[in-house]
Amino acid sequence: MTKIISEEELSRQRAFSAKLREANAHFAAEYGRERLAHTETYGCQQNENDTERIRGMLKEAGFKFTEDAEKADVVIYNTCAVRENAEQKVFGRLGILKNIKERRRNMIIGICGCMVQQEHITEKIKAVHDHVDLIFGTHALYKLPELLYNAMHEKGVVVDITQSDGAIAEDIPVLRETPWKAWVSVMYGCNNFCSYCIVPYVRGRERSRKSADILNEIKELVKNGCTEISLLGQNVNSYGKDLDEGIDFADLIRMVNDIDGVERIRFMTSHPKDLSDKLITAMKECDKVCKQLHLPVQAGSNRILKEMNRKYTREEYLEKIEKIKREIPGIALSTDIIVGFPTETNEDFEDTLDILRRVEYDNIFSFIYSRREGTPAAKLDFVLTDEEIHKNFNRLLEVQNEISKRKNEAYVGRTERILVDGASKTDKTMLSGRTDSSKIVNFKGDESLTGKYVDVKITEARTWSLNGELI
Ligand code: SAH
Ligand code: SF4
Ligand code: F3S
Repeated sequence: MTKIISEEELSRQRAFSAKLREANAHFAAEYGRERLAHTETYGCQQNENDTERIRGMLKEAGFKFTEDAEKADVVIYNTCAVRENAEQKVFGRLGILKNIKERRRNMIIGICGCMVQQEHITEKIKAVHDHVDLIFGTHALYKLPELLYNAMHEKGVVVDITQSDGAIAEDIPVLRETPWKAWVSVMYGCNNFCSYCIVPYVRGRERSRKSADILNEIKELVKNGCTEISLLGQNVNSYGKDLDEGIDFADLIRMVNDIDGVERIRFMTSHPKDLSDKLITAMKECDKVCKQLHLPVQAGSNRILKEMNRKYTREEYLEKIEKIKREIPGIALSTDIIVGFPTETNEDFEDTLDILRRVEYDNIFSFIYSRREGTPAAKLDFVLTDEEIHKNFNRLLEVQNEISKRKNEAYVGRTERILVDGASKTDKTMLSGRTDSSKIVNFKGDESLTGKYVDVKITEARTWSLNGELI
């Protein structure tokens, strides 16, 4: 049964939000400028989606926003714990903020998200970074108005990293940057406990939102001009298992497909062990579901997959891929790969390369294994040296780049429907958007096309993107 944060608790938070609004109005009257907030997000789309809620709550509390941390009255970092380098980046940034805060004593610095949900990290921040005013974990997100109010009015650091019973907070204000496309969380947490992964520890157990809440959110988005919906969860194929509605993810997709005004549906992430025939059929039959699937394999050797606690073999994985390719011809596939998992040998790694060659992914997200304290894999020993692991990592990229380029070349000459995301990040004179299969396409055009669908003829293939001409 899904538990929901009570209306009483939410209205308590709204009262704190009103108090902040009042304080911010006084501040503006006194100093002739509005209080500014700055947010930074690390990690996955789940975190991006959480930051949209943080910004929604800050806006409701009367804050305006700045891109520049130096100008902000409130800085909030939404952090990731999945690999060590994500955490190191945040510690580095905290050092810089310390200097800024020495000049601006009233600045409030808040750290939230997955990283601080780990007690040893929160203890370290408290011990080493006493300029941090507020620390709150993934379960306390909806309490931001209260926690921020307290941080602004109390001396010392305000901390809330308690693990809740998993109750979901509905109806939190959301501020989205891209009105034409939106992430919509369908479930939170993860029960899989892959042996390398910190996510289940920092995000808690799987819990699904009620379908009515999801569908209402999407209908509201569509009313405001949104056409592309990405359904989000650490393991969307488990959607509904904890509900008493008797529905699963395939049923949910069909319901979203029936909403007028939705043009594209994407979802991530699917765990291969839970990818059902029913879902493949739903993907095939729902015209709005994009021809794209992210199916993380992580490794190609059965021994490593077992050590990783992934609960499928390479043969089972490949069989599912074959079925998808057969049922949905031309589907674009992507995956996540970990290189250098403890006990991995060069022979095991060859099995990963073999998977790449057999599946021919459109693109991959590859990571060097990072030891996470408290996970089972942290106790295992390495066979390969760092140097060997880096060499394998580079080989993996080489093999994949060749495949990606080849897959992209097949698009040259085709006309693709693109949803325009705005000016290209690398070349401001170009527009950038995505195909149904999620390939990035750059082309000349007016920025007023942002958020609209256009037809583009593909003229050139690159490794990571396509170039084209508006027709
Ligand atoms: N729930 C999703 C995403 C998990 S995190 C899934 O199961 O696919 C995203 C990716 O980070 C994972 O797929 C994995 O490839 C990588 N990852 C997770 N833990 C890691 C670790 N300790 N070291 C390196 N990469 C890791
Ligand atoms: Fe981590 Fe595995 Fe859960 Fe993905 S499925 S979040 S990799 S434990
Ligand atoms: Fe996402 Fe990182 Fe947390 S990948 S769930 S932000 S640990």
